[in-house]
Amino acid sequence: MLAPGTRTGSVLVDNIGELVTNDPTVGEGAIGLVRDGALLVRDGEVIYAGPRSGLPAGEANGRIDAAGAAVIPGFVDSHGHLAFAGDRAAEFAARMAGEHYTAGGIASTVTATRAASDDQLASSVARLVREAALSGTTTHECKSGYGLSLADEVRSLQAAAKHVEEVTFLGAHVVPEDYSDKVDDYVALVTGPMLDACAPIATWIDVFCDRGAFDGDQAREILRAGIARGLKPRIHANQLQHGPGVQIAVELGAASADHCTHLDDADIEALASSDTVATLLPGAEFSTRAQYPDARRMLDAGVTVAIAADCNPGSSYTTNIPFCMAIAVRDMRMTPAEALWSATEGGARALRRTDVGHLRPGARGDFVLLDAPSYLHLTYRPGVPLVRSVFRAGARVR
Ligand code: NIG
Ligand code: FE
Repeated sequence: MLAPGTRTGSVLVDNIGELVTNDPTVGEGAIGLVRDGALLVRDGEVIYAGPRSGLPAGEANGRIDAAGAAVIPGFVDSHGHLAFAGDRAAEFAARMAGEHYTAGGIASTVTATRAASDDQLASSVARLVREAALSGTTTHECKSGYGLSLADEVRSLQAAAKHVEEVTFLGAHVVPEDYSDKVDDYVALVTGPMLDACAPIATWIDVFCDRGAFDGDQAREILRAGIARGLKPRIHANQLQHGPGVQIAVELGAASADHCTHLDDADIEALASSDTVATLLPGAEFSTRAQYPDARRMLDAGVTVAIAADCNPGSSYTTNIPFCMAIAVRDMRMTPAEALWSATEGGARALRRTDVGHLRPGARGDFVLLDAPSYLHLTYRPGVPLVRSVFRAGARVR
């Protein structure tokens, strides 16, 4: 086996018991499942993923014998809040003793984040990216949103940009305490000077449109301001109660509406007839002991569904995508194959990426070799560390 950090011009994984390609033209179902497969990655890109019998001739400088184990695409975690300081373990314990989750807890992380140095913020992101690699994540999105001042939002985005490839400006996470009686002034700051400073560091703009955060009119105004500055919209929608977030996402062509816990028929119809992905975050409902979104209803209506970890110190302090998939299968009525697709190709679609989330030729060589004969074990054996090795662009990262 190649040691972590090893760079090879090409790597061949042979003797794969189950290879998940997410290419329905080479294998079974939407996940393109190939039995007795082989995978060839050269110069960071997938050259071949399919049956061993079709492997193109030629040598690879790195060869791995999977010995019948399963290989899947690296997970694409399209929703994370990794730039923060401190934790909220006591808040979690209080919740498990009966307290309700509210957006108000965010304020304590804002205080800790503002007090952290630039290096501490960057280390927080790096630590969580490393942690996520242990369970197979190879692409990350990271939001700001715990700075909530111009300087602290810029610092948070800079920390994120050092370690992740998809960076999102979430100055509109909540109204910070220093603006609690000046909400309009805060919206003006987010859509004005803060946006001016943050737009060059980010690709995406996000708003928490919910009870205790921003209403529909404010969310629309903030997202439109971001779009006018060249950022692409995504939104925290319908997490704590039913609201206008999902409809705003579709109206503005957002890549993703995230949470989607409280949806009515009109929301589901709007999502199904749009390019907006519904990103479900099972870790959040798990850790806030809230009702799960009805993934089955969305899938049956034709909505594109992603699963992400929503790693943050308040509502979902996990980086573990297989854990989130297991919840989605057990409690949100997704099949194991749907959950795997949603955590790979679904996450890529939520980020409008075509180069990750699958193993079709031309994809970035991001893949995970499991310590299991089947991808089913990811959800069938919850909590068990089944990731043997992880490759990103053809290089072993763990
Ligand atoms: O996605 N919903 C808003 N933001 C985060 C939680 C933030 C927090 O509680 O610190 C989320 O769940
Ligand atoms: Fe979030």
